[in-house]
Amino acid sequence: MNKILILNGPNLNLLGKRETGVYGTATLADIEDMARKRAASLGREIECLQTNSEGTLIDRLHEAPSRFQAIILNAGALTHTSAALRDAIAAIAPLPVIEVHLSNIYARAETFRHHSFITPVCAGQICGFGPMGYTLAVEAAAALIGK
Ligand code: DQA
Repeated sequence: MNKILILNGPNLNLLGKRETGVYGTATLADIEDMARKRAASLGREIECLQTNSEGTLIDRLHEAPSRFQAIILNAGALTHTSAALRDAIAAIAPLPVIEVHLSNIYARAETFRHHSFITPVCAGQICGFGPMGYTLAVEAAAALIGK
């Protein structure tokens, strides 16, 4: 098994139309395509899921260890609010979770975005590189999984 799960949380289904000055014009489907191509070039397979529901994100994390070897997660605003999401990530250790944000959350005007509940339980964080963050995360996941 050599599979990576890409999970996207609330409002990321609106990428391409949503606050394009901050998040750019690529749609989530565009980003998933880029990530899938990068994964294929590294001999890995990805599965992608977006949900606006915190409960569904947590359920998918709980189920992940039996099917995936790494997870790439953009939790959207839940990053800044959800202790439950952090606990779910901690609960599936040592499965590596790579935190991704399109924007540089530390450079955003709203200070509530400067804190992430999930970073301490993630393998690492990639933020500020737009859609490229997901392909960088695929590379990191592949490296963490190894052969
Ligand atoms: C985001 C940053 C979050 O603060 C925000 O709530 C999002 C997107 C990003 O990808 O930059 O929905 O996770």
